[in-house]
Amino acid sequence: MFVHQHHLRHLLRPEHYTSEAQYRAELRHLFLPAWHPVATAGDLRRPGDFLTLDLLETPILLRNFDGQLRAFLNVCPHRHSKLTEKPRGRTEQLRCQYHGWEFQEDGRTARIPDAKAFRPWDRENACLRRFQVATCGELVFVKLTDGGPSLREWVGPLWELWQSYGGAYRHAATWAKDFPCNWKVVLENSLESYHIPQVHPHTFKDFPPETNAWHELTERFTSFKTMEPDEFATRMQHWIVRRLGEKVTGEYWHRVLHPHATGSSLDSFRMMQCVFPTGPTTCRYRCIFFTLRGHRRNPLAWALYRGLRSVATMVGKKVFAEDGSIYRGVQQGMAASPHRGVIGTREERVYVFQKYVLENARGAQELPVADGELVESSRTQAFDLGGDSRPLRVRLVFLHRLLHLPDGPLHAYEDGPADDRVADVQLLDAGDPDDGLHVPVVQPVAHVDVKPEPDRVGRRRPQLLQLRRQGRRADRL
Ligand code: FES
Ligand SMILES: [Fe+2]
Repeated sequence: MFVHQHHLRHLLRPEHYTSEAQYRAELRHLFLPAWHPVATAGDLRRPGDFLTLDLLETPILLRNFDGQLRAFLNVCPHRHSKLTEKPRGRTEQLRCQYHGWEFQEDGRTARIPDAKAFRPWDRENACLRRFQVATCGELVFVKLTDGGPSLREWVGPLWELWQSYGGAYRHAATWAKDFPCNWKVVLENSLESYHIPQVHPHTFKDFPPETNAWHELTERFTSFKTMEPDEFATRMQHWIVRRLGEKVTGEYWHRVLHPHATGSSLDSFRMMQCVFPTGPTTCRYRCIFFTLRGHRRNPLAWALYRGLRSVATMVGKKVFAEDGSIYRGVQQGMAASPHRGVIGTREERVYVFQKYVLENARGAQELPVADGELVESSRTQAFDLGGDSRPLRVRLVFLHRLLHLPDGPLHAYEDGPADDRVADVQLLDAGDPDDGLHVPVVQPVAHVDVKPEPDRVGRRRPQLLQLRRQGRRADRL
């Protein structure tokens, strides 16, 4: 059952899939605060195992230190070499490939060849940059910024489910591919079943009727559930699942945790797919695939597990390739499109995703141009100037851009990033009327100054705020 009964507006415009500014905004606001599934614990099973990857323009090295997983920037503090360029391997020590500096599990240096040549020692600048790393089931996640929610808080309601990646399910394969398209092209394709008859005529054949399709739409994630069709391949699969000692539900689930972590599952497999932007019109799509092992330990169960693993992996890769065949064409069409686009009810998860992008990837030039008028709102704020002065009270006037969505309340987007969005400052009250408009007095509110940028409504001026008091205009900041 779909949530919406009428078609929806395509909220993102073609330029959102091509512009450098939008790409930068998404990196900063959507991806840097996020946790990213990048590997499995099995990839780093033994002490000394490591792997490297490029994640959001950042070279990463993941390593097992006596059972503890650590993630570092793969850049040496000595003279900037990558510590290693090998995609994976195992070493006794974490050692830079260039001059052989060695590092401990907290990122501090261990042995340094000819260490006396570096006296006096600059301890602070000789440490590897560390990143947060955590696991959910067998999945290893990395986060590139400090602080923020823990992995458990980030994954939220999907935690229990994603913990099942591991246990009865075993890692079968990981594959990745670069595509010449914006990352949202890949993600939006995964969010709808509408393309199935055209793109997967032999693997999936047809999309399920609405009566066999359930959508769940939330701000953090969206889900799609359908019951498997009653056909020979399904019955065969269910027989194997039972022989491996597991329960059959017959459910297919697909969930996307915004912005990009995509889990899908049948009784026979678990899959984690994740698309990472590598530029405005390029991305890397990684798939980590698990198949059912079950809990039975006998020769038949082993043979069935091996057979299931090889067939399911083959089908998974085939579906991945089928979807991959259309991304380039969508991106090329995007670059030349005069249309606004439209979203059908079967594609309503795309709409929720686009709304999420609009509401969260925001910044000055980064803010998508939305339809609707500009409106003002204001807030009074007091600034303590210290000394004997009475607090300075000012009214901060904000500009909002209203985006009219067809089926919901009006959404207001502040016309600028959080610390740079004040359109006007009105001085209401100050300690001394005579000095009230001079630079020293207004300095405490200087952080609300606007950036020098062309404005859309002619009210902002670079480095110049108009202060108004009792009808009198004056004074530069
Ligand atoms: S650059 Fe790494 S040891 Fe010199
Ligand atoms: Fe598909």
